[in-house]
Amino acid sequence: MAGRWVLAAAAVLALLLAAGPAAGKKTKEKLCDQGWKCQGPSIYCCNDTIFDIFQVYQFENLFTKRNAPLAHAIGFWDYHSFITAAGVYVPLGFGTTGGKRMQLKEIAAFLGHVGSRTSCGYAVATGGPFAYGLCYNREMSPSQDYCVDSYLYPCSPGAQYYARGALPFYGNINYGVIGEGLKVDLLKHPEYLEQNATIAFQAAMWRWMNPMKKKQPSAHDVFVGNWKPTKNDTLSKRLPGFGTTMNILYGDLVCGQGYIDSMNNIISHYQYYLDLMGVGREFSGDNLDCAEQKVFNPSGNPATS
Ligand SMILES: *[C@@H]1O[C@H](CO)[C@@H](O)[C@H](O)[C@H]1NC(C)=O
Ligand SMILES: *[C@@H]1O[C@H](CO)[C@@H](O)[C@H](O)[C@H]1NC(C)=O
Ligand SMILES: *[C@@H]1O[C@H](CO)[C@@H](O)[C@H](O)[C@H]1NC(C)=O
Repeated sequence: MAGRWVLAAAAVLALLLAAGPAAGKKTKEKLCDQGWKCQGPSIYCCNDTIFDIFQVYQFENLFTKRNAPLAHAIGFWDYHSFITAAGVYVPLGFGTTGGKRMQLKEIAAFLGHVGSRTSCGYAVATGGPFAYGLCYNREMSPSQDYCVDSYLYPCSPGAQYYARGALPFYGNINYGVIGEGLKVDLLKHPEYLEQNATIAFQAAMWRWMNPMKKKQPSAHDVFVGNWKPTKNDTLSKRLPGFGTTMNILYGDLVCGQGYIDSMNNIISHYQYYLDLMGVGREFSGDNLDCAEQKVFNPSGNPATS
């Protein structure tokens, strides 16, 4: 067994050597650094970053009612925390992939999810139903502490794992996994997500930038065109575009159920933001919904509520 492995490794080495210096047709991509705005070196720091194309007035425009009297997280969410959180993911391609239109579209898509999950808008609200994103930062009347037995992510005594954040998630396992991703002890301190908007945005961006399981794409990847569907994906109607981001983030809570309200509401937020950001909903892209998609991860453990 070991012998076989050594042989295989040697063969790989030989291939690498053969493909080595002489084969250098792939020119090395330029790497850049833009200090705090984009902590390179990264190819994604060479173009305009999210800081250049999405400014405070745009954020205010999207979330005009977040501090309205009926809101439930008054004074919590702001541009500064959004942009500070983004600093971690910008060098990895968040809002910095594919040129200006795609960059703006990705911000609209990410915030479309955030807006729809944290909205307290309703049909006849002033300003329209989509002006109320970032109105919540937590579940208001949790009926339980959402603690399940887990060896890897045991609950802390007294901690409550109800839904919190910008892309709210609940349960000790999700808090554990995402805390590990952020290197913040969310198992011990789940309350950070309702006390610190930078951490809340970071947790949401982590969800957007990472696959839920190995060998699956991230929402970022399916949206910006980094992902090639397999035959199985195509048969399951999972194709690049906004629709598949919902499949990844919510699974069968939202997808594969036909044209249900919860799905339509997320899409409407995305398109509303595209309009406000000057891109226009005519550029929403193909495969906008997931009404007929089979989900990557069938129910049981959706990471987002
Ligand atoms: C940088 O911008 C160019 C021109 O818009 C675009 O073609 C390229 O893909 C961008 N680079 C990255 C890393 O997205
Ligand atoms: C919020 O979290 C960020 C990132 O961990 C940290 O730098 C900042 O100091 C925190 N803010 C407050 C008010 O605790
Ligand atoms: C194809 O998808 C089905 C369900 O969607 C899954 O059970 C099966 O393992 C997948 N096959 C491959 C080769 O990935």
